[in-house]
Amino acid sequence: MSNRLNTPNDMRAFWMPFTANRQFKKEPRLFVGAKDMHYQTHDGRQVLDGTAGLWCVNAGHCRPKITEAIREQAGELDYAPAFQLGHPKAFELANRLVDIAPEGMNHVLYTNSGSESVDTALKVALAYHRAKGDGSRFRLIGRERGYHGVNFGGISVGGIVSNRKMFGTLLTGVDHMPHTHLPEKNAFTRGQPEHGGDLASELERIVTLHDASTIAAVIVEPVAGSTGVLIPPKGYLQKLREICTKHGILLIFDEVITGFGRLGAPFAAQYFDVKPDIITTAKGLTNGVIPMGAVFVTSEIHDAFMNGPEHLIEFFHGYTYSGNPIASAAALGTLDTYKEEGLLTRAAELASYWEDGLHSLKDCPNVIDIRNIGLIGAIELSPIAGEPTKRAFSAFLKAYERGLLIRTTGDIIALSPPLIIEKHHIDELFDKLRGVLKHNI
Ligand SMILES: Cc1ncc(COP(=O)(O)O)c(C=O)c1O
Repeated sequence: MSNRLNTPNDMRAFWMPFTANRQFKKEPRLFVGAKDMHYQTHDGRQVLDGTAGLWCVNAGHCRPKITEAIREQAGELDYAPAFQLGHPKAFELANRLVDIAPEGMNHVLYTNSGSESVDTALKVALAYHRAKGDGSRFRLIGRERGYHGVNFGGISVGGIVSNRKMFGTLLTGVDHMPHTHLPEKNAFTRGQPEHGGDLASELERIVTLHDASTIAAVIVEPVAGSTGVLIPPKGYLQKLREICTKHGILLIFDEVITGFGRLGAPFAAQYFDVKPDIITTAKGLTNGVIPMGAVFVTSEIHDAFMNGPEHLIEFFHGYTYSGNPIASAAALGTLDTYKEEGLLTRAAELASYWEDGLHSLKDCPNVIDIRNIGLIGAIELSPIAGEPTKRAFSAFLKAYERGLLIRTTGDIIALSPPLIIEKHHIDELFDKLRGVLKHNI
Protein backbone atom coordinates (compact mmCIF):
# COMPACT_ATOMS: atom_id res chain seq x y z
CA MET A 1 0.00 0.00 0.00
CA SER A 2 1.28 3.48 -0.80
CA ASN A 3 2.63 5.51 2.08
CA ARG A 4 1.57 8.71 0.38
CA LEU A 5 -0.64 10.92 2.41
CA ASN A 6 -3.14 11.97 -0.22
CA THR A 7 -3.13 13.29 -3.77
CA PRO A 8 0.00 13.67 -5.95
CA ASN A 9 0.12 17.36 -5.04
CA ASP A 10 -0.12 16.72 -1.33
CA MET A 11 2.47 18.90 0.38
CA ARG A 12 2.41 17.36 3.83
CA ALA A 13 5.19 14.78 3.48
CA PHE A 14 7.97 17.33 2.90
CA TRP A 15 8.94 19.00 6.21
CA MET A 16 10.50 22.11 4.72
CA PRO A 17 13.73 23.63 6.09
CA PHE A 18 13.77 27.04 7.80
CA THR A 19 10.19 27.55 6.62
CA ALA A 20 6.88 28.48 8.19
CA ASN A 21 5.49 25.15 6.92
CA ARG A 22 1.83 25.76 7.71
CA GLN A 23 1.79 29.23 6.16
CA PHE A 24 3.65 28.01 3.08
CA LYS A 25 1.39 25.04 2.47
CA LYS A 26 -1.68 27.26 2.61
CA GLU A 27 -0.21 29.64 0.01
CA PRO A 28 2.59 27.78 -1.81
CA ARG A 29 5.32 29.66 -3.62
CA LEU A 30 6.90 27.33 -6.15
CA PHE A 31 9.58 28.01 -8.71
CA VAL A 32 9.33 25.89 -11.85
CA GLY A 33 12.02 27.49 -14.01
CA ALA A 34 14.87 30.00 -13.96
CA LYS A 35 17.08 31.85 -16.41
CA ASP A 36 19.82 34.39 -15.69
CA MET A 37 18.33 37.02 -13.32
CA HIS A 38 14.82 35.58 -13.08
CA TYR A 39 12.77 32.77 -11.63
CA GLN A 40 9.54 31.59 -13.13
CA THR A 41 6.74 30.79 -10.69
CA HIS A 42 4.19 27.98 -10.87
CA ASP A 43 1.53 30.57 -11.69
CA GLY A 44 3.53 31.77 -14.70
CA ARG A 45 5.13 34.96 -13.34
CA GLN A 46 8.72 36.19 -13.63
CA VAL A 47 10.44 37.00 -10.32
CA LEU A 48 13.62 39.08 -10.27
CA ASP A 49 16.17 37.27 -8.14
CA GLY A 50 17.40 39.75 -5.53
CA THR A 51 19.14 37.10 -3.44
CA ALA A 52 20.99 34.80 -5.88
CA GLY A 53 18.76 32.01 -4.63
CA LEU A 54 20.20 31.67 -1.13
CA TRP A 55 23.36 33.73 -1.67
CA CYS A 56 24.66 31.06 -4.04
CA VAL A 57 23.67 31.55 -7.69
CA ASN A 58 26.44 34.07 -8.31
CA ALA A 59 26.59 33.56 -12.08
CA GLY A 60 22.81 33.68 -12.53
CA HIS A 61 20.52 30.80 -13.39
CA CYS A 62 20.83 27.91 -15.82
CA ARG A 63 24.14 29.04 -17.23
CA PRO A 64 25.13 26.91 -20.26
CA LYS A 65 28.73 26.04 -19.26
CA ILE A 66 27.59 24.68 -15.92
CA THR A 67 24.55 22.84 -17.22
CA GLU A 68 26.59 21.26 -20.00
CA ALA A 69 29.44 20.24 -17.67
CA ILE A 70 26.97 18.42 -15.43
CA ARG A 71 25.24 16.73 -18.34
CA GLU A 72 28.52 15.49 -19.81
CA GLN A 73 29.94 14.31 -16.52
CA ALA A 74 26.79 12.39 -15.60
CA GLY A 75 27.19 10.32 -18.78
CA GLU A 76 30.93 9.77 -18.41
CA LEU A 77 31.75 9.05 -14.74
CA ASP A 78 28.86 9.33 -12.34
CA TYR A 79 30.57 8.46 -9.08
CA ALA A 80 34.03 7.49 -7.89
CA PRO A 81 34.73 6.42 -4.30
CA ALA A 82 36.24 9.32 -2.42
CA PHE A 83 38.43 7.33 -0.01
CA GLN A 84 41.75 5.84 -1.22
CA LEU A 85 40.61 6.49 -4.84
CA GLY A 86 40.04 9.54 -6.95
CA HIS A 87 39.18 11.01 -10.32
CA PRO A 88 40.98 13.70 -12.32
CA LYS A 89 38.46 16.53 -12.04
CA ALA A 90 38.67 16.69 -8.22
CA PHE A 91 42.42 17.39 -8.53
CA GLU A 92 41.98 19.83 -11.40
CA LEU A 93 39.36 21.70 -9.41
CA ALA A 94 41.54 21.92 -6.29
CA ASN A 95 44.34 23.43 -8.39
CA ARG A 96 41.98 25.93 -9.97
CA LEU A 97 40.62 26.89 -6.56
CA VAL A 98 44.05 27.35 -5.04
CA ASP A 99 44.93 29.63 -7.99
CA ILE A 100 42.23 32.14 -7.06
CA ALA A 101 42.55 31.78 -3.28
CA PRO A 102 44.59 34.16 -1.11
CA GLU A 103 48.30 33.44 -1.36
CA GLY A 104 49.42 30.54 0.78
CA MET A 105 46.02 28.80 0.92
CA ASN A 106 47.42 25.86 -0.96
CA HIS A 107 45.24 22.89 -0.07
CA VAL A 108 41.57 22.08 -0.32
CA LEU A 109 39.29 19.59 1.47
CA TYR A 110 35.89 18.98 -0.13
CA THR A 111 32.52 18.89 1.60
CA ASN A 112 28.88 19.02 0.47
CA SER A 113 27.62 22.18 2.17
CA GLY A 114 28.58 25.21 4.17
CA SER A 115 27.66 23.46 7.41
CA GLU A 116 30.00 20.61 6.60
CA SER A 117 32.73 23.03 5.59
CA VAL A 118 32.48 24.69 8.99
CA ASP A 119 32.59 21.43 10.92
CA THR A 120 35.50 20.28 8.75
CA ALA A 121 37.40 23.50 9.46
CA LEU A 122 36.84 23.22 13.22
CA LYS A 123 38.06 19.61 13.17
CA VAL A 124 41.12 20.53 11.10
CA ALA A 125 41.96 23.25 13.61
CA LEU A 126 41.71 20.94 16.62
CA ALA A 127 43.62 18.14 14.91
CA TYR A 128 46.32 20.52 13.64
CA HIS A 129 47.27 21.62 17.13
CA ARG A 130 47.25 18.04 18.31
CA ALA A 131 49.38 16.91 15.38
CA LYS A 132 51.92 19.53 16.45
CA GLY A 133 51.92 18.21 20.00
CA ASP A 134 49.74 21.07 21.25
CA GLY A 135 46.63 19.05 22.15
CA SER A 136 45.70 21.30 25.07
CA ARG A 137 44.29 23.77 22.53
CA PHE A 138 40.71 22.52 22.48
CA ARG A 139 38.66 25.70 22.74
CA LEU A 140 36.83 27.26 19.81
CA ILE A 141 35.79 30.90 19.80
CA GLY A 142 32.87 32.19 17.75
CA ARG A 143 30.86 35.38 17.87
CA GLU A 144 27.38 36.44 18.90
CA ARG A 145 25.01 36.54 15.91
CA GLY A 146 27.41 34.40 13.87
CA TYR A 147 25.91 31.87 11.45
CA HIS A 148 28.02 28.87 10.66
CA GLY A 149 25.41 26.44 9.40
CA VAL A 150 23.29 24.01 11.32
CA ASN A 151 25.51 21.09 12.31
CA PHE A 152 26.58 20.70 15.92
CA GLY A 153 29.99 22.34 15.48
CA GLY A 154 28.50 25.23 13.54
CA ILE A 155 25.69 25.97 15.96
CA SER A 156 28.09 25.70 18.89
CA VAL A 157 30.38 28.44 17.58
CA GLY A 158 27.41 30.23 16.01
CA GLY A 159 25.56 32.94 17.88
CA ILE A 160 21.98 32.93 16.62
CA VAL A 161 19.82 32.06 19.60
CA SER A 162 16.94 30.39 17.76
CA ASN A 163 19.38 28.08 15.99
CA ARG A 164 20.94 26.99 19.30
CA LYS A 165 18.40 27.01 22.07
CA MET A 166 16.55 23.79 21.15
CA PHE A 167 19.59 21.56 20.89
CA GLY A 168 21.00 20.84 24.30
CA THR A 169 24.50 21.48 25.52
CA LEU A 170 26.21 21.68 22.12
CA LEU A 171 30.04 21.46 21.99
CA THR A 172 31.81 22.19 25.23
CA GLY A 173 34.80 24.54 25.42
CA VAL A 174 33.26 27.21 23.20
CA ASP A 175 33.16 30.93 23.95
CA HIS A 176 31.81 33.90 22.00
CA MET A 177 33.02 37.38 21.21
CA PRO A 178 30.44 40.18 21.12
CA HIS A 179 28.85 41.03 17.78
CA THR A 180 29.76 44.30 16.12
CA HIS A 181 26.31 45.77 15.48
CA LEU A 182 26.21 49.32 16.87
CA PRO A 183 23.18 50.95 15.23
CA GLU A 184 23.17 53.94 17.57
CA LYS A 185 26.60 54.93 16.22
CA ASN A 186 26.74 53.38 12.75
CA ALA A 187 23.19 53.49 11.33
CA PHE A 188 23.00 54.23 7.59
CA THR A 189 26.75 53.84 7.11
CA ARG A 190 27.81 53.21 3.54
CA GLY A 191 30.41 50.42 3.53
CA GLN A 192 32.50 49.66 6.59
CA PRO A 193 31.38 51.39 9.80
CA GLU A 194 33.69 53.79 11.63
CA HIS A 195 32.78 52.57 15.09
CA GLY A 196 33.37 49.19 16.68
CA GLY A 197 36.83 48.19 15.44
CA ASP A 198 37.99 48.10 19.05
CA LEU A 199 35.48 45.32 19.81
CA ALA A 200 38.14 42.96 18.47
CA SER A 201 40.03 43.48 21.70
CA GLU A 202 37.27 41.49 23.42
CA LEU A 203 39.18 38.53 22.03
CA GLU A 204 42.11 39.52 24.25
CA ARG A 205 39.77 39.41 27.24
CA ILE A 206 38.63 35.90 26.29
CA VAL A 207 42.24 34.81 25.78
CA THR A 208 43.12 36.15 29.19
CA LEU A 209 40.19 34.34 30.76
CA HIS A 210 40.93 30.91 29.25
CA ASP A 211 44.66 31.27 28.55
CA ALA A 212 45.90 31.13 24.97
CA SER A 213 47.31 27.65 25.51
CA THR A 214 43.73 26.27 25.56
CA ILE A 215 42.42 28.02 22.42
CA ALA A 216 42.57 26.31 19.02
CA ALA A 217 40.74 28.69 16.71
CA VAL A 218 38.57 31.74 16.24
CA ILE A 219 35.87 31.59 13.57
CA VAL A 220 34.06 34.58 12.10
CA GLU A 221 32.19 35.48 8.96
CA PRO A 222 34.16 38.43 7.52
CA VAL A 223 30.74 39.92 6.70
CA ALA A 224 28.04 38.30 8.82
CA GLY A 225 25.30 37.45 6.33
CA SER A 226 22.49 35.30 7.66
CA THR A 227 22.04 37.29 10.84
CA GLY A 228 21.07 40.28 8.72
CA VAL A 229 24.29 41.65 7.19
CA LEU A 230 26.73 43.00 9.77
CA ILE A 231 29.68 44.62 8.10
CA PRO A 232 33.01 44.56 9.94
CA PRO A 233 33.95 47.94 11.40
CA LYS A 234 37.15 49.48 10.10
CA GLY A 235 40.22 47.79 11.56
CA TYR A 236 38.24 44.99 13.25
CA LEU A 237 39.36 42.02 11.14
CA GLN A 238 42.97 43.25 11.11
CA LYS A 239 42.93 43.38 14.90
CA LEU A 240 41.49 39.87 15.19
CA ARG A 241 44.30 38.67 12.93
CA GLU A 242 46.93 40.37 15.11
CA ILE A 243 45.58 38.85 18.31
CA CYS A 244 45.33 35.35 16.82
CA THR A 245 48.88 35.53 15.47
CA LYS A 246 50.22 36.81 18.77
CA HIS A 247 48.71 33.85 20.65
CA GLY A 248 49.20 31.04 18.13
CA ILE A 249 45.43 30.77 17.54
CA LEU A 250 44.15 29.82 14.08
CA LEU A 251 41.83 32.32 12.39
CA ILE A 252 39.02 30.81 10.32
CA PHE A 253 37.07 32.98 7.89
CA ASP A 254 33.69 31.48 7.09
CA GLU A 255 33.33 32.66 3.50
CA VAL A 256 30.32 30.56 2.58
CA ILE A 257 28.56 33.80 1.56
CA THR A 258 31.47 36.12 0.79
CA GLY A 259 33.45 33.58 -1.26
CA PHE A 260 33.36 33.70 -5.07
CA GLY A 261 33.05 37.37 -5.80
CA ARG A 262 30.31 38.69 -3.53
CA LEU A 263 32.40 41.69 -2.42
CA GLY A 264 34.25 42.33 -5.68
CA ALA A 265 37.27 40.10 -5.01
CA PRO A 266 37.31 36.30 -5.17
CA PHE A 267 37.33 36.10 -1.35
CA ALA A 268 36.69 38.54 1.47
CA ALA A 269 40.19 37.78 2.76
CA GLN A 270 41.54 39.51 -0.35
CA TYR A 271 38.98 42.30 -0.22
CA PHE A 272 39.87 43.19 3.38
CA ASP A 273 43.52 42.25 2.94
CA VAL A 274 43.47 40.03 6.01
CA LYS A 275 44.80 36.51 5.70
CA PRO A 276 43.14 33.80 7.74
CA ASP A 277 44.60 30.32 8.26
CA ILE A 278 41.50 28.49 7.04
CA ILE A 279 38.68 29.55 4.70
CA THR A 280 35.35 27.75 4.48
CA THR A 281 33.28 27.94 1.30
CA ALA A 282 30.26 26.32 -0.43
CA LYS A 283 27.33 28.03 -2.24
CA GLY A 284 29.01 29.99 -5.08
CA LEU A 285 31.53 27.19 -5.60
CA THR A 286 29.08 25.40 -7.90
CA ASN A 287 26.81 28.39 -8.45
CA GLY A 288 24.44 26.65 -6.04
CA VAL A 289 23.62 24.05 -8.66
CA ILE A 290 25.04 20.93 -7.00
CA PRO A 291 25.80 20.63 -3.28
CA MET A 292 29.52 21.13 -2.73
CA GLY A 293 31.81 22.95 -0.32
CA ALA A 294 35.54 23.47 -0.05
CA VAL A 295 37.79 24.25 2.90
CA PHE A 296 41.08 25.99 2.12
CA VAL A 297 44.05 25.56 4.43
CA THR A 298 47.63 26.81 4.42
CA SER A 299 50.58 24.57 3.63
CA GLU A 300 51.66 24.90 7.23
CA ILE A 301 48.44 23.29 8.41
CA HIS A 302 48.42 20.62 5.71
CA ASP A 303 52.08 19.72 6.20
CA ALA A 304 51.65 19.24 9.94
CA PHE A 305 49.62 16.12 9.14
CA MET A 306 51.99 14.69 6.52
CA ASN A 307 54.19 12.60 8.74
CA GLY A 308 54.32 9.04 10.05
CA PRO A 309 54.30 5.90 7.87
CA GLU A 310 53.07 6.62 4.34
CA HIS A 311 50.50 3.83 4.26
CA LEU A 312 48.57 5.43 7.13
CA ILE A 313 45.63 7.79 6.64
CA GLU A 314 46.73 11.23 7.82
CA PHE A 315 43.36 12.78 8.71
CA PHE A 316 40.35 10.70 9.71
CA HIS A 317 37.67 12.81 8.11
CA GLY A 318 35.78 13.00 4.81
CA TYR A 319 32.41 12.39 3.17
CA THR A 320 31.11 9.80 0.71
CA TYR A 321 30.56 12.66 -1.71
CA SER A 322 33.80 14.63 -1.09
CA GLY A 323 34.87 15.83 -4.54
CA ASN A 324 31.99 14.00 -6.26
CA PRO A 325 32.63 13.92 -10.05
CA ILE A 326 29.42 15.70 -11.04
CA ALA A 327 29.90 18.35 -8.35
CA SER A 328 33.52 18.80 -9.46
CA ALA A 329 32.40 19.22 -13.07
CA ALA A 330 29.77 21.74 -12.02
CA ALA A 331 32.39 23.69 -10.04
CA LEU A 332 34.79 23.70 -13.00
CA GLY A 333 31.99 24.97 -15.26
CA THR A 334 31.23 27.61 -12.66
CA LEU A 335 34.85 28.77 -12.40
CA ASP A 336 35.02 28.96 -16.22
CA THR A 337 31.89 31.11 -16.25
CA TYR A 338 33.22 33.38 -13.50
CA LYS A 339 36.49 33.80 -15.37
CA GLU A 340 35.08 34.40 -18.84
CA GLU A 341 32.62 37.00 -17.57
CA GLY A 342 34.89 38.62 -14.98
CA LEU A 343 32.32 37.87 -12.27
CA LEU A 344 34.73 37.51 -9.37
CA THR A 345 35.51 41.21 -9.56
CA ARG A 346 32.28 42.52 -11.09
CA ALA A 347 30.75 43.50 -7.74
CA ALA A 348 33.50 46.10 -7.38
CA GLU A 349 32.33 47.82 -10.57
CA LEU A 350 28.69 47.89 -9.50
CA ALA A 351 29.10 48.50 -5.77
CA SER A 352 28.63 52.27 -5.80
CA TYR A 353 25.57 52.14 -8.09
CA TRP A 354 24.14 49.43 -5.85
CA GLU A 355 24.91 51.49 -2.74
CA ASP A 356 23.16 54.59 -4.12
CA GLY A 357 20.07 52.60 -5.09
CA LEU A 358 19.90 50.90 -1.71
CA HIS A 359 20.33 54.06 0.33
CA SER A 360 17.63 55.80 -1.74
CA LEU A 361 15.19 53.74 0.38
CA LYS A 362 16.25 55.58 3.52
CA ASP A 363 13.09 57.66 3.70
CA CYS A 364 10.65 54.78 3.37
CA PRO A 365 8.44 54.14 6.40
CA ASN A 366 9.80 51.96 9.21
CA VAL A 367 13.35 51.87 7.85
CA ILE A 368 15.74 52.20 10.79
CA ASP A 369 19.05 51.24 9.17
CA ILE A 370 20.58 50.47 5.79
CA ARG A 371 23.92 48.69 5.36
CA ASN A 372 25.91 47.66 2.30
CA ILE A 373 29.18 46.28 1.01
CA GLY A 374 30.06 44.83 -2.39
CA LEU A 375 26.83 43.43 -3.86
CA ILE A 376 25.25 42.92 -0.45
CA GLY A 377 22.60 45.14 1.08
CA ALA A 378 20.41 45.13 4.17
CA ILE A 379 17.43 47.20 5.19
CA GLU A 380 16.47 46.96 8.83
CA LEU A 381 12.83 47.67 9.68
CA SER A 382 11.38 48.61 13.02
CA PRO A 383 9.55 45.57 14.39
CA ILE A 384 5.78 45.66 14.86
CA ALA A 385 5.23 45.91 18.63
CA GLY A 386 4.78 42.43 20.08
CA GLU A 387 5.17 40.72 16.69
CA PRO A 388 8.87 40.59 15.79
CA THR A 389 9.74 39.36 12.26
CA LYS A 390 6.20 39.96 10.98
CA ARG A 391 6.88 43.25 9.22
CA ALA A 392 9.80 41.88 7.23
CA PHE A 393 8.00 38.63 6.44
CA SER A 394 5.07 40.60 5.13
CA ALA A 395 7.50 42.62 2.96
CA PHE A 396 8.87 39.32 1.64
CA LEU A 397 5.37 38.13 0.68
CA LYS A 398 4.45 41.46 -0.91
CA ALA A 399 7.72 41.59 -2.86
CA TYR A 400 7.14 38.06 -4.13
CA GLU A 401 3.68 39.08 -5.34
CA ARG A 402 5.24 42.06 -7.13
CA GLY A 403 7.84 39.89 -8.87
CA LEU A 404 10.86 40.37 -6.62
CA LEU A 405 12.69 37.82 -4.48
CA ILE A 406 14.15 39.23 -1.27
CA ARG A 407 15.30 37.40 1.86
CA THR A 408 14.39 38.30 5.39
CA THR A 409 15.82 37.41 8.75
CA GLY A 410 14.25 38.86 11.86
CA ASP A 411 13.06 42.28 10.72
CA ILE A 412 15.93 42.73 8.29
CA ILE A 413 15.69 42.48 4.51
CA ALA A 414 18.90 41.07 3.01
CA LEU A 415 19.80 41.46 -0.65
CA SER A 416 22.55 39.68 -2.60
CA PRO A 417 21.69 39.47 -6.30
CA PRO A 418 23.49 37.34 -8.88
CA LEU A 419 26.75 39.03 -9.89
CA ILE A 420 25.54 39.25 -13.51
CA ILE A 421 23.04 41.92 -12.45
CA GLU A 422 22.80 44.96 -14.76
CA LYS A 423 22.11 48.54 -13.74
CA HIS A 424 18.55 48.38 -15.09
CA HIS A 425 17.89 45.35 -12.85
CA ILE A 426 19.23 47.30 -9.88
CA ASP A 427 16.81 50.13 -10.71
CA GLU A 428 13.94 47.67 -11.06
CA LEU A 429 14.82 45.92 -7.80
CA PHE A 430 14.84 49.10 -5.73
CA ASP A 431 11.73 50.50 -7.46
CA LYS A 432 9.83 47.34 -6.59
CA LEU A 433 11.13 47.35 -3.06
CA ARG A 434 10.22 51.01 -2.62
CA GLY A 435 6.68 50.13 -3.71
CA VAL A 436 6.54 47.40 -1.08
CA LEU A 437 7.97 49.51 1.72
CA LYS A 438 5.97 52.65 0.90
CA HIS A 439 2.53 51.19 0.53
CA ASN A 440 2.16 47.70 1.79
CA ILE A 441 3.57 47.05 5.20
C1 LIG B 1 28.54 31.93 6.72
C2 LIG B 1 27.79 30.66 6.51
N1 LIG B 1 28.32 29.51 6.95
C3 LIG B 1 27.70 28.34 6.77
C4 LIG B 1 26.48 28.28 6.13
C5 LIG B 1 25.78 26.97 5.98
O1 LIG B 1 25.74 26.56 4.66
P1 LIG B 1 24.76 25.36 4.23
O2 LIG B 1 23.37 25.87 4.34
O3 LIG B 1 25.22 25.06 2.83
O4 LIG B 1 25.04 24.22 5.14
C6 LIG B 1 25.90 29.45 5.65
C7 LIG B 1 24.59 29.42 4.97
O5 LIG B 1 23.96 30.41 4.73
C8 LIG B 1 26.57 30.67 5.86
O6 LIG B 1 26.03 31.83 5.46
